Amino acid sequence: KETKLWGGRFEEGVTDAVERFTESISYDWQLYKYDIMGSKAHASMLAAQGLITTGDRDIILEGLDQIEKQIQDGKFEWRKDREDVHMNIEAALIEKVGEPAKKLHTARSRNDQIVTDLRLWCRDAIDKILIRIKQFQVSLVLLASKYVDLIVPGYTHLQRAQPVLLPHLLLSYVEQHSFHRNRGTRFLRIVSILTSFLRILSISIDAVSDRDFVLEFLAANSIAAIHLSRIGEEWVLWASEEFGFLTPSDSVSTGSSIMPQKKNPDPMELVRGKSARVVGDLMTVLVLCKGLPQAYNRDLQEDKEPLFDSVKAILGMLEVCSEFAQNISFNSKRIQSSLPAGYLDATTLADYLVKKGVPFRTSHEIVGRCVALCVSKNCQLTELEMDDLKAVHPVFEADVYAYLGVENAVNKFISYGSTGSEQVKKQLEDWRVQLGIN
Ligand code: ARG
Repeated sequence: KETKLWGGRFEEGVTDAVERFTESISYDWQLYKYDIMGSKAHASMLAAQGLITTGDRDIILEGLDQIEKQIQDGKFEWRKDREDVHMNIEAALIEKVGEPAKKLHTARSRNDQIVTDLRLWCRDAIDKILIRIKQFQVSLVLLASKYVDLIVPGYTHLQRAQPVLLPHLLLSYVEQHSFHRNRGTRFLRIVSILTSFLRILSISIDAVSDRDFVLEFLAANSIAAIHLSRIGEEWVLWASEEFGFLTPSDSVSTGSSIMPQKKNPDPMELVRGKSARVVGDLMTVLVLCKGLPQAYNRDLQEDKEPLFDSVKAILGMLEVCSEFAQNISFNSKRIQSSLPAGYLDATTLADYLVKKGVPFRTSHEIVGRCVALCVSKNCQLTELEMDDLKAVHPVFEADVYAYLGVENAVNKFISYGSTGSEQVKKQLEDWRVQLGIN
């Protein structure tokens, strides 16, 4: 067995079990690009400080370039007995260029390397996520643009509430994701400041052992994940026979191994499912950090897998949500035929009474009685005769019918941010501009 780079004081090597248990190369090799980047910066610093010659620096830089190329070409051998990405690269560099490489680790610890690598990795990961979020937003806006006039039932408590325009609902998802983009961009700024040395971390102990940036990233991913999960839940529900509001194309559905008729919305179920691991990844690192004394502790090695896992999951979820959005159609006929149920215009009727000077609490009560009458007559509010309405309350007049029915109800919404058609047209246009869709 090769002697460890830290092996000077040791009389025997670690057991196989310890080696297997402590290695991290099986996953932290993914950081190689950033590790090399950091080592290059470090070598340049050492030369600038006169700790190594510029000749040694150039040999190190050249050697690191070669190693990077070897890795990219799949020609680099990752060795478990060399523990982690840092030692693998350093040992290989020593093999390659000899003595100068032994000077590279002057004035740094692997603990400094790992935290630098991780920050750089996060920066690129966030970039990727931001791109995917935007793609999903674009898919949603394009989907919304296909159904500008389609009214759907709005729900609270999963009970019918008020009618809304489908694009308004879809834009609510777009809007949620704009918060994720903002969160991502803000976070990117923080990590970039830390990694591009615009601001030098001022306290060494915090610099080497802080993992708040990992936690913030995982928290942001978790919020995004639960939003995606909610969309997953809604679309799965809407694709059911009972709702029948949307149909996913075959390309985003899967079948059953036993029931030949089945066509399941599995991708969106898995979006819902994978949100569990994203939230779990955040929990893992929170709990990981909670009992650690300052400064670096080996426990921190356990932050990598949850971080990688979270990013992989969220990228997959966003990709599949975009594809789903591109491959579903809303069943306008079915949705329209379902609209008479549930007294979606009841609140509009209450607003009508308010306009007639009735206090809202009273009008709520009056409309409640109208609904009760409809229930007993098994009809809709629009179908109540003038006499029926007058019998409930004399304030009703013939103009009431301009407030009934879902179209009228939707058109009564005129305030900023509401689901009225004029507003929704503006919202759609705003988003098209923001996302650069022509
Ligand atoms: N593999 C370690 C980690 O991921 C790198 C730092 C190890 N440092 C040490 N002193 N053993 O955190």
